Amino acid sequence: MELTETSQMDPRALNATSVNADAAQDESDDAQLLKITAASSNPKMFTLPWEKPLSTWPQELLVNLPRGISRHVVRFVHVGDEVYAMKEITRLVAEREYELLRRLQKLELPTVTPIAVVTGRHDANGSPLEAILVTRHLKFSLPYRALFARNLRPDTAERLIDALAVLMVRLHLAGFYWGDVSLSNVLFLRDADAFSAFLVDAETGDLHASLTDGQREYDIDLARTNIIGELMDLNSGDLLPKGVDEVSVGNRLVDRYHSLWGALTDVEDFNPDEMWKIEKRINRLNELGFDVDELEMKTAADGKRVLVRPRVVDAGYASRKLLRLTGLDVQENQARRLLNDLDAYRASTWREGEELEIVATDWMREVFEPTVHMIPPEYRSQIDPAQFFHEVLDHRWFLAEKAGHDVPMGEAVASYIKNVLPQYKLDTAETQAINEDADSGVIDDQATYHDVEDDAENDSDAAVWSH
Ligand SMILES: Nc1ncnc2c1ncn2[C@@H]1O[C@H](COP(=O)(O)OP(=O)(O)O)[C@@H](O)[C@H]1O
Ligand SMILES: [Mg+2]
Repeated sequence: MELTETSQMDPRALNATSVNADAAQDESDDAQLLKITAASSNPKMFTLPWEKPLSTWPQELLVNLPRGISRHVVRFVHVGDEVYAMKEITRLVAEREYELLRRLQKLELPTVTPIAVVTGRHDANGSPLEAILVTRHLKFSLPYRALFARNLRPDTAERLIDALAVLMVRLHLAGFYWGDVSLSNVLFLRDADAFSAFLVDAETGDLHASLTDGQREYDIDLARTNIIGELMDLNSGDLLPKGVDEVSVGNRLVDRYHSLWGALTDVEDFNPDEMWKIEKRINRLNELGFDVDELEMKTAADGKRVLVRPRVVDAGYASRKLLRLTGLDVQENQARRLLNDLDAYRASTWREGEELEIVATDWMREVFEPTVHMIPPEYRSQIDPAQFFHEVLDHRWFLAEKAGHDVPMGEAVASYIKNVLPQYKLDTAETQAINEDADSGVIDDQATYHDVEDDAENDSDAAVWSH
């Protein structure tokens, strides 16, 4: 039984650290029984083959979506109607990461959502297996390597960096020290013409009341080094668009981070008769996507000036407004675009005097929904409806400019689907190549897998996997 399974396995998967659990973990009684710790229950979780190492789970349970480079075995799994990401790691690390992700979610930070920790796994022979951390697969997200596998705008690396700078500032403001910032530990969502970044790997992180400048600088410095390395790696695989300089992209992160941090936290001083300038500062923060809850004001020592610092800055200004109006939960730049379209709709239907809530309901029914209903079924899992809408608006504008007159929405949608949307398709072979690359980073634990690995090396079938 063991052998049959082994010969069908990818040898790299056999090298995974996570096939066997560390004996020390099994000392407590608790660890002897399969245990699923979850905030809410999904009964389908009990039907999964926990008694098998994750790298040997049957194909039909798995979802073939692109993954980033990882140290551990990670797989996407169908669980009922949902797709979960499973990561096989030691119990202590799984429990810690689960708790940390829960706390970050409570702080409304952009991270993957933790679902469960599964411990007390054993194989058919009763030998212990490592724990599994379960998170919800972040829909429409892409690891950076998948983004670079597409024909991209030359400024993609920069746009990813800008998103990462925002993510780091948000995490740091909340007191989260990451400890392992890299492009591989971030997921990207398209957000209108930009990207939004989400934290995916919190394993090395720590939540504090606040961070020292030294801690923040350490995170930034490591991010810079890792990014430069990751981009060089892409470049050597011929995946980086021409003319991208890895070091200057790495430096851009440092600059963007500092200017955003400054905009959010600097204390400014004003003369008492210049208070209007405060409003300007708040507007600027809103434009950056941050909401200002209150202002900290105090009089300077000379008594002549007022020191002002914005407090409780929170991201998602436009997206919260759109959510309130329409129930749509989308990324910040997408929300801005949708709100602009809503405004244009209100103006063009001569309803400026009417309440925005009511106009928004009509806009949803008459404009947004009919458009996104036209997304062909095979693309529904690949493009976010709000992103589709945004891109159709761009495309419509492009067509109108070319034609010299307005183009009806229906025509723009049809042309977009035919001419632009196919770029989104990541085919099976491409995804497979990305995932093979991702697995090549899984750590090789010789001590634990010596026997298994030897088997794989001597197994002629194993050669099949090297393609
Ligand atoms: N919830 C998730 N949604 C989407 N992708 C995920 C999720 N969890 C993990 N991944 C993918 O798996 C990769 C590896 O996960 P990560 O937690 O970084 O593992 P490791 O600790 O081994 O580095 C990530 O780069 C990401 O592409
Ligand atoms: Mg990682």
